Amino acid sequence: MPKSLLEVFDLKKHFTQRRGLFSSLTAEERFIPAVDGVSFYLKENETVGLVGESGCGKTTIGRTILGLTRATSGKVLFDRKDITCMPAEELRLLRSQMQMIFQDLDAGLNPKMRIREILKEAITVHHRFSDAEVERKTRELLDQVNLKSNKLSQFPHELSGGEKRRIGIARVLGVGARFIVADEPTSALDVSIQAQVVNLLRDLQQQLGLTFLFISHDLQVVELVSHKVAVMYLGKIVEMGLAERIASKASHPYTHILWSSLVEKQNREAVQAPTTGAWGVHDFERPLHGCRFAPRCPVYHAQGRPAICTDPASEPELRDLGDGHYVACHFPLG
Ligand SMILES: Nc1ncnc2c1ncn2[C@@H]1O[C@H](COP(=O)(O)OP(=O)(O)OP(=O)(O)O)[C@@H](O)[C@H]1O
Ligand code: SF4
Ligand SMILES: [Mg+2]
Repeated sequence: MPKSLLEVFDLKKHFTQRRGLFSSLTAEERFIPAVDGVSFYLKENETVGLVGESGCGKTTIGRTILGLTRATSGKVLFDRKDITCMPAEELRLLRSQMQMIFQDLDAGLNPKMRIREILKEAITVHHRFSDAEVERKTRELLDQVNLKSNKLSQFPHELSGGEKRRIGIARVLGVGARFIVADEPTSALDVSIQAQVVNLLRDLQQQLGLTFLFISHDLQVVELVSHKVAVMYLGKIVEMGLAERIASKASHPYTHILWSSLVEKQNREAVQAPTTGAWGVHDFERPLHGCRFAPRCPVYHAQGRPAICTDPASEPELRDLGDGHYVACHFPLG
């Protein structure tokens, strides 16, 4: 049985943000519990999909577990080593195995460097190799992401979006990634290219035994690539389980609405899955106690607004429904 590569325990990342036109004078601050007590794990060679509306904390989770942003509290174990309290130099070395593919196609692609130099930099950041070895590894990387060697002499601006994404993937492989946080890896690409990138990531996972935290708004893609799915709402994971079970037998009212809207979308093609737009801007200033989904929850309303849902003392915790399916709701759907 594959062992856990990453274990996250009660992770919190809170921000404070100045607000208002005269914020520097009034020192008025807004508290944002972007990640507010999240626990999950990933096994080797597994993909966990992370979904939820814009602003719910997905990228912050990714950045915090890689140590790119310091956690407010909680613990992150990578290969059983606690990276939240690791000395900077040790973390720097370990980070070669934990990399992020950023949503921005140009991230990590220095516009002044040719692709050959970009890949060389990645390959040699943590290791010394002879020139011949670097050349061999560079060509191997290009081969792995299905690009021709004539790309080596080009600059990033000469590449298409799909080619930039492939070089971005080659870069993290060059550094030595075993665990990759892929943050919306297809969202900046044309629809025709998205499937190619998804297939590439799946092929690489099989060939190299990679482990992915796959962040996406696109539920169809998440369902396709993920073994397990975690659903986030305002800084919390509200449901987690095997991808097919989350997609077809959601227990949390929010998950149910997300996937129902996907079915609607498939039926009507033109309608978007609900991101921020569908229900208006959601906000961390809405209920900070009890269940954060209550103001929008059809079950809560249908049940006559039971106090247990909004009582500060009874915030719904993730409960095990069996078979690795967890839900945080007082009235899970049957
Ligand atoms: N450096 C920061 N300082 C202050 N607030 C931040 C910072 N980074 C993120 N936030 C806030 O934390 C919350 C979560 O942001 P995050 O980017 O993690 O969301 P997300 O789920 O990735 O959204 P999207 O789907 O739009 O990428 C948001 O309210 C955001 O404004
Ligand atoms: S705990 Fe209550 S308000 Fe929250 S999702 Fe469940 S039914 Fe809805
Ligand atoms: Mg994000």
